[in-house]
Amino acid sequence: MEFVQVVSVSSLKGGVGKTTITLGLASAAFAQGLRTLIIDMDPQSDVSAALASRSTHGFTIDTVLKAATKKNVRQAIIPSSWTGPTDVAVDVLMGSQSSANHDIPNPTKNDLWRLEEALVLVEKNYDLVLIDCPPSFNALTQTAWTASDAVAIVAEPGLFSVTAVHRTLLALESMRQQMSPRLRTAGVIINRYRPDSREHQFRMGEMDQLFGQHILSPTVDETLTMQQATGAATPIHRWPGELAQTLAQKFDLLLRQILSENRG
Ligand SMILES: Nc1ncnc2c1ncn2[C@@H]1O[C@H](COP(=O)(O)OP(=O)(O)O)[C@@H](O)[C@H]1O
Ligand SMILES: [Mg+2]
Repeated sequence: MEFVQVVSVSSLKGGVGKTTITLGLASAAFAQGLRTLIIDMDPQSDVSAALASRSTHGFTIDTVLKAATKKNVRQAIIPSSWTGPTDVAVDVLMGSQSSANHDIPNPTKNDLWRLEEALVLVEKNYDLVLIDCPPSFNALTQTAWTASDAVAIVAEPGLFSVTAVHRTLLALESMRQQMSPRLRTAGVIINRYRPDSREHQFRMGEMDQLFGQHILSPTVDETLTMQQATGAATPIHRWPGELAQTLAQKFDLLLRQILSENRG
């Protein structure tokens, strides 16, 4: 790829599968041979806990957001446990509980630009940067979006998802106007879909009607395999079984759509 693409994975609700989807997309990127960096912006630091191959001796996203120096950024990034036979690997910019300190009520423009500043220092090393965001439209999410080309919204087919997706799209529009004209919507990924659930079918219909052009296909079903692969911090592309292969192909398709330039 000619330019690095920076994609935030967001939802304004917790537990919908941001981390799961981030790892699924990273697995697709890894399988394609894209040099990938995952930035753990969520103070819960689930991605870091899953993928960290060693300690960064206190250098984390918190350090980077304090001062985006070359040293801070380089030290906070480590290779994940996902490595291949070639030099293609997935790196992690480590998360930290203390990143919550940057979740301040009135961030300045300088605060919001900090991650972008940090990325400029390392982006030539990557084809793709995925940012696992916290579950609200807080200063950390705004900082992530300011550094991003696109935002992929994760939603469950549930009662409150319609409002959550609507709010996320509005928040995106306001960020685009105030901070970052280049920011685009990469679309809505529906996760934890149960095809045999009447309720889910109904909610999918509702989402399609309201956000039609934004909903990405295919959806990601709720499966034990997905949960197991994520729990074991293994790329879904390397998980055994036919179901894992089907899921892996879904993430290939989703990544391709997210990276295509001409979505609105
Ligand atoms: N498609 C899926 N199938 C089965 N379990 C899932 C799926 N997506 C997420 N989960 C499970 O739901 C829980 C929350 O997912 P997670 O990715 O941690 O959400 P978030 O990062 O948005 O808080 C985890 O236990 C995860 O394993
Ligand atoms: Mg998470």
